[in-house]
Amino acid sequence: MNSDYTDSNPALGALYAKHIETIAARHDHALEQAGASHAVIYSGNPKNAFLDDYQMPFKPNPHFVNWVPLTCLPYSYIIYTPGETPILVYFQPHDYWHVVPGTPAGYWTSRFDIRVVHSVEGVAEHIPVDREKCIVIGEIDDDALTFGIERVNPNTAMNILHYARGVKTEYELAIMRLASQRGARGHIAAEAAYRDGQPEFEIHRAYCEAVSHTDSELPYGNIVALNKHGAVLHYTDLDRQPPAESRSFLIDAGAQVHGYASDITRTYSNRDERFRALIDRMDTMQLDIVAEVRAGLDYRDLHVATHKMLAGVLVDAELASGAPDTLLETGVTSAFFPHGLGHLLGIQVHDVGGFMENESGTTIDPPSGHPFLRLTRVLEENMVLTIEPGLYAIDMLLENLRGTPAESHVNWDSVDWLRPFGGIRIEDNIRVLLNDQENLTRDAFALL
Ligand code: GLY
Ligand code: MN
Ligand code: MN
Repeated sequence: MNSDYTDSNPALGALYAKHIETIAARHDHALEQAGASHAVIYSGNPKNAFLDDYQMPFKPNPHFVNWVPLTCLPYSYIIYTPGETPILVYFQPHDYWHVVPGTPAGYWTSRFDIRVVHSVEGVAEHIPVDREKCIVIGEIDDDALTFGIERVNPNTAMNILHYARGVKTEYELAIMRLASQRGARGHIAAEAAYRDGQPEFEIHRAYCEAVSHTDSELPYGNIVALNKHGAVLHYTDLDRQPPAESRSFLIDAGAQVHGYASDITRTYSNRDERFRALIDRMDTMQLDIVAEVRAGLDYRDLHVATHKMLAGVLVDAELASGAPDTLLETGVTSAFFPHGLGHLLGIQVHDVGGFMENESGTTIDPPSGHPFLRLTRVLEENMVLTIEPGLYAIDMLLENLRGTPAESHVNWDSVDWLRPFGGIRIEDNIRVLLNDQENLTRDAFALL
């Protein structure tokens, strides 16, 4: 990973110092509640493919990335004891098969007591002796990696940390703005490749080049969907040939900076004016939903309100007829819009803690009839989430409406018209403010 993306940003070091204070305070609280004195946070390790000695792409433990902007440092540990400088056991193997991590460098180093080790055995001497006072946080697939610590990922501590991660620090917000700018750059390159008549595969390549990511550095697999492929919600095939006729383009693609993601979707019409007008209508609706975001709002209510707004769009576009409540109750809006309005965003694209009611692990169910909603919390200042309404022609779902009270509310001729275009999704990344919101995505596009 080319990790120098932010090294030229002088403000980041100061923000990082405050970030570490916040992360430390969260761990103080988690350790106290778990009755422990030391958190031992494991970065993780790559996994081999079955029956093979090739490694799958390494995905670091998000708890580790929450402390340090190091996404490619397997077999390493942060050891945190309240009141003390955190120790970073930095694993730098003697290995002539792979590139090994270089000398620790960057704005983060002064915040750690860094101990470079060259073997897994070398870690042991840095782990606190009173192992019963330690907890391990991380994915452990070999007991040797816990060095005799028995408490691994205890719920009390994990729930506290996961709940807290919903609210971002100023440092996290700063790098997420950069991740949005990086993603927006990719989207502009992808649109140009699309307008140039390139196939999905080449559009994907143009995107990766513009964000300077390999496939495995992308925060999630790019969705690059021409024409009816836009109706496959997680379409990740990449056709090598352009379609005979170009109608539409849906791209859901993000980027990352120091392990923090953006998650952006745009939809384009090639020449069809009716489809272009429907995209514009969805764009206006998406902005109206975004404008509702503020602290204290129950995200479940916003999801349900979106269905009512979408009912209006469906009627205006002559895809359906009937009152908004009727279209909701009969399942018409859910057939056209079968996923959640959005989710928390951060180190993980679907960031942890979206269902948590409090730090003790109580969860909040999605509203009935909306099982795929991944964020059910009441919004707080400095949460970052996505707003991503969609409208698709998914035959598998629309056909289920036949023979039900919904059938007469659907304009099936218009569904036939929409089908070759796939669908529309518009997705922005939004920071919650007390009485307002910051649109990281639109701001990023505006900068370019
Ligand atoms: N890119 C996955 C999502 O939008 O949730
Ligand atoms: Mn997305
Ligand atoms: Mn998303």
